[in-house]
Parts: sequence; structure tokens; C-alpha cells
Amino acid sequence: MGDSFALAPCAAACYGPSMADDAFLDLVRRRTSCRTYDPKPVPRHLLERVLEAARWAPSACNRQPWRFAVVQEEHVRARLVDEAFLAGIPMRWAQDAGAMIVLGMEKSAITHRIAPMISGVDYPLLDLGIAGEHLVLEAEALGLGACWIGWIRPKVVRRLVGWPGSVDPVAVITVGWPAPGSRRTRPRMELDQLAKWI
Ligand SMILES: Cc1cc2nc3c(=O)[nH]c(=O)nc-3n(C[C@H](O)[C@H](O)[C@H](O)COP(=O)(O)O)c2cc1C
Repeated sequence: MGDSFALAPCAAACYGPSMADDAFLDLVRRRTSCRTYDPKPVPRHLLERVLEAARWAPSACNRQPWRFAVVQEEHVRARLVDEAFLAGIPMRWAQDAGAMIVLGMEKSAITHRIAPMISGVDYPLLDLGIAGEHLVLEAEALGLGACWIGWIRPKVVRRLVGWPGSVDPVAVITVGWPAPGSRRTRPRMELDQLAKWI
């Protein structure tokens, strides 16, 4: 696959101006999970921007099942690390991130029970994944670092952030200022191992 993609003229006309050159693909390729932070607070307006990116994610039936708990208080971040992360993967680094954003799933009858029974596809979980990655990419665009944390105890997370039983925590995303040298690029499988063209 080539490195640059030109937007077809009709797409440019229909959808308006595109991002400059390969700006989006560059952003996606540049992003890595950040696990070393400078423990400075992240200003609220930047956290609002990452949430704004998540809010505009697509979702099955436009149900928007995502909920967010933005944890900035140091003692709550410490309790999340100490009590709500599962053992086995060292994740104390997470405490240095200025914010932890908990992604929660609001249960609703149609997408949670009826649609998956028919198709076998977990739509709300897909929706949460899309919203979470919008958030992570906007963090990267703002010069922040982020890391998904799925190795959690959902019930403990729910108690610590004070959500009702109707919201299931599915992941925590750390958002903070990357410390120098924190970027480690992990390999990816080649496209020909992944994609079948028919
Ligand atoms: C759903 C999900 C859950 C993850 N959970 C954890 C986690 O609990 N702890 C952790 O350190 N990294 C976690 N990660 C980060 C992955 O390890 C990381 O994305 C992967 O190794 C690729 O590296 P990169 O993000 O730097 O490209 C998670 C990523 C995703 C998408």
C-alpha cells in the first residue's frame, strides 16, 4: 500500500476540504500507548476536547451508550490504581497521568438485549471502543499521551466513581502529559496478513 492517498475529486466536492495530506494517517501511526507521565494536571478545556471527540463517535442505532467519569482528584486516581486494577500487569505508572477517564456503558434494552440476540454482535461494546479511540486520538492530536486500561475490576471502578448499576465500566483511559522518552512503537502485522480482497 502506498504512503499517500489523494482524496477523489468528487469526495472533496461532497464532503468539503479534507485534512492536509496524510495528517490523519500520520496521527494514527504516531500514537502509542503512553505509560510514563509528567504528573502535571491536564487543564479542563483539554479534557473537554477529548470528550468532545468521543461524543461524536458513531454508534449502533445512534444509542450513544457511552458515559464518562473524568477522575482528576489524586486520591481517587490512587484508589483506582490500588483497588480497581487487576493484578499481574504492573500499572502504577497510571497514577502519574493527570486524568483517568472511565468509559462506561449505559445499558439499553434494544442494543443490549434484543439486537445482539438476533445477530450475536455486541454493539454497545463496539460503540464504546470507537468512542474511546476517538478520545485517544484527540489526546494525541493535542500533544497529550493516553493509554487504554482494560485490566480492571468493573464493580470496584463503578463504586469508586459513583455510577449506578445501570452503567457498566468497561475500560479506563489514562490521559496526561507524556514524559520525555515515553514513546515506544510496537510492531503491527502487515496488511496482507490481515486483509482479504474479494
Ligand atoms: C481494549 C484495550 C485494553 C488494554 N488494556 C491495557 C491494560 O490493561 N494495561 C496496559 O498497560 N495496556 C493496555 N492496553 C494497551 C495495549 O497493550 C496496546 O495498545 C498494544 O500493546 C499496542 O501498543 P500501542 O498502543 O503502543 O500501539 C489496552 C489496549 C486496548 C485497546
